[in-house]
Amino acid sequence: MKLATPITLPCGVTLRNRIAKSAMSENLAVKNLPGEKLCKLYETWGANSIGLIITGNVMVDGNELGEPNNVVLEDDSHLPEFRSWTSAAKKNGAAIWAQINHPGRQAPSAISRVTVAPSAVKLKLGNLAFRTPHALSETEIHDIIAKFGRTAALCKEAGFDGVQIHGAHGYLVSEFLSPLANVRTDRWGGSIENRMRFALEVLRAMRKAVGAKFPVGIKMNSADFQRGGFDEDDAIVVAQALEAEGVDMIEISGGSYEASAMTGAQEVLKSARDTKSLDATTGAQEVLKSALTSTAQREAYFLPFAERIRKSVKVPLMLTGGFRSAQAMNAAVESGAVDITGLARPLAMEPELARRLLSDSTARIELKPVKTGIAAVDRMGALEIGYYSLQLKRIGEGKKPDPHLSPLLALPLLGLNYTSGIISRMFR
Ligand SMILES: Cc1cc2nc3c(=O)[nH]c(=O)nc-3n(C[C@H](O)[C@H](O)[C@H](O)COP(=O)(O)O)c2cc1C
Repeated sequence: MKLATPITLPCGVTLRNRIAKSAMSENLAVKNLPGEKLCKLYETWGANSIGLIITGNVMVDGNELGEPNNVVLEDDSHLPEFRSWTSAAKKNGAAIWAQINHPGRQAPSAISRVTVAPSAVKLKLGNLAFRTPHALSETEIHDIIAKFGRTAALCKEAGFDGVQIHGAHGYLVSEFLSPLANVRTDRWGGSIENRMRFALEVLRAMRKAVGAKFPVGIKMNSADFQRGGFDEDDAIVVAQALEAEGVDMIEISGGSYEASAMTGAQEVLKSARDTKSLDATTGAQEVLKSALTSTAQREAYFLPFAERIRKSVKVPLMLTGGFRSAQAMNAAVESGAVDITGLARPLAMEPELARRLLSDSTARIELKPVKTGIAAVDRMGALEIGYYSLQLKRIGEGKKPDPHLSPLLALPLLGLNYTSGIISRMFR
């Protein structure tokens, strides 16, 4: 089984197989530090043959959070807590990478003192939840790039085996890439060469901080799924530039808070129909439709994008989004389109799944749609996030995930920041 074969990254590090846990923000930190629950959760994942575990986003600045209980690593005062976390994950031979993130304009105002972004362009949802960001100055941009480097260096010290830039889903790095969020007219905005400068500078800062032999990856969008947004052609230019700059792996995803494609093309299409945000002329509509047609056989809804990017770069590609069976995962790797398969929600429902997928080529997992029956709520990508977060919390408490858990229980978790988003949608 190709899934079970090791892979060596450009930096020389080998991962023991092709199954990776993709980042899932756990929202389980205690005072923004890893504690018992995070250790238990990662020990459970690590005990089950998985090749690579990528953490949920680790923030570079405690004043800039995506969720209240994010992990923050900005100085060396709490390295022992981080070392307990990495040791728990690594006990049984898995590698653990930290996903490093800055929320940019997706920082809910309730939990952040200031909101910054490439430009003062507000998110088109949840008027109460997210403030209009302040457009970063040149000095502030350099300051944040340095913070990514600092966090990467600290991750290495804390025992992580690699780091990943969160360059997807509408957070700061992907905001710079997006022509909708980034309307700057200086060298950080405009052409794709300018828009990708921030991602490349972050990569350079992190590489400088960790050295040539330490894995540095990035998760990036194949597209933002919005009219006039970052598209597949942009993604190819960025992937080539990242490869030239020595990135070790590119994980492909898509979407943002405004168009939450990361958890399903079905939802994107539905929201596109609702918001008319997809531009048929970019071909995104067609690509999504074909992705949906083939989902039954191939599951992974960004696979058509991966196949295209594969033709332009040789760097190891990881594909995440929709994989549910050993058969589809093996086929994706065997086709050569991708090198590593990523799983998120399945590992929240069955943390031992990697072992089963590696030992049985017919293994699969079925996940029930997360629905409350309240249409406005069910449209929100955040509901899925809340629901699976509850499952992660259970695993962190030493319990089994509960497939019968009511999605309604996820609602309070969404908090003010998300509920105001829901309310604004209900009345749109
Ligand atoms: C609870 C939850 C939290 C997530 N947090 C992150 C995150 O911190 N960073 C990230 O890149 N993706 C995050 N994602 C997206 C997943 O990594 C993944 O791209 C998405 O769930 C699709 O993969 P799947 O079909 O295997 O679940 C999150 C998803 C869920 C369900």
